[in-house]
Amino acid sequence: MTTTVTAAPTTATEFARAEERTAHNYHPLPVVLAEAEGAWMTDVDGRRFLDLLAGYSALNFGHSHPALIEAAHEQLDKMTLTSRAFVHDQFADFCAELGDLCGKDLVLPMNTGAEAVETAIKVARKWGYEVKGVPADQAKIIVASGNFHGRTTTIVGFSDDPVARDGFGPFTPGFVTVPYGDLAALEAAIDANTVAVLVEPIQGEGGVVIPPEGYLRGIREACTRENVLFAADEIQSGLGRTGRTFACDHEDVVPDIYILGKALGGGIVPVSAIVADRDILGVLKPGQHGSTFGGNPLACAVGRKVVGMLATGEFQRRGEELGVLMRERLEAMVGHGVLAVRVRGLWAGVDIDPAVGTGRQVCEALMARGVLVKDTHGSTIRLAPPLVVSAEDLGWGLDQLAAVVTGG
Ligand SMILES: Cc1ncc(COP(=O)(O)O)c(C=O)c1O
Repeated sequence: MTTTVTAAPTTATEFARAEERTAHNYHPLPVVLAEAEGAWMTDVDGRRFLDLLAGYSALNFGHSHPALIEAAHEQLDKMTLTSRAFVHDQFADFCAELGDLCGKDLVLPMNTGAEAVETAIKVARKWGYEVKGVPADQAKIIVASGNFHGRTTTIVGFSDDPVARDGFGPFTPGFVTVPYGDLAALEAAIDANTVAVLVEPIQGEGGVVIPPEGYLRGIREACTRENVLFAADEIQSGLGRTGRTFACDHEDVVPDIYILGKALGGGIVPVSAIVADRDILGVLKPGQHGSTFGGNPLACAVGRKVVGMLATGEFQRRGEELGVLMRERLEAMVGHGVLAVRVRGLWAGVDIDPAVGTGRQVCEALMARGVLVKDTHGSTIRLAPPLVVSAEDLGWGLDQLAAVVTGG
């Protein structure tokens, strides 16, 4: 059956049309959004929602941040795409400014997070063969249980989530999984052919899982000792989300490779990158890696503005300060419909008591109260409000969560 639009679109008609004509690779909440500004979104029926998900941290600066929109408009009017066959006038500045933010020499821009992870894997392997001297095709990369690094066949091949993985093999060899947070297991897994350790400093999709204090420092030390690259996937944890520029900053750790995405595109365009020193990224030669859209003028113009905004420290400060408020409110919910919370900066995993309902049911109840969030792994709600949210709005959103989990 085909649904046709005969009147103004409504949530019911648009949701049904979307369900009818798209692959069902997502299970969205039944809301159809039309406009957004700051921390607020409006649906096609004119209802307003407080966004406490922020596009899984892709909208750290909120919706339609005026400075980002201005940068995008300005670039749209000038030039949008050149391909990397030519150099454009935003490219050098983007690479230099992002490299400086990370304290690294070189930047390799891509588009999506998964592409940046793939890029880090390729670079680590090539570095292993050409610099470390690993025998051909023997490179090993250590990853962590519960990881989420994207959706390509190589990446889902080292996921331990059957939903992400099953039915998509055969998979790329060369990955070894150790329990997340277990430094001894990670150290024991390193051998002469290990080229990299690839981890999320905090596992976002896993439910905002924060490793034990000292874990990242321990990885840094082990990688330095064993001549192995530490590749930190900061795609979700980075760029202000945890109250610092990078989640690794909480342990004063500098990885060899930063993998960035999501908020780097300002919520406007997909922009990802890996950032590393010359002795690592310098292994790539022309023709060995690339992307038609990677580092395009629009992406670089928006990315430069994002980097400039982060360089002020304002957003990191907001993340830290609002995070204190969020932590206090969430910790008070433990034992009252909430089993446990994990908070770092303005980012939280909230484990819902099954007696209250599933994570999905809580999200639907919150939606009815004007708050948008999303569940992960059945019973966990991930909160990642835009860093521009006001304390008052955040407090109101958390009031709604408290009311839902206590059956109010
Ligand atoms: C830590 C991490 N890495 C990689 C990705 C993949 O990014 P993308 O969806 O842009 O490919 C995600 C997405 O959620 C992520 O959270």
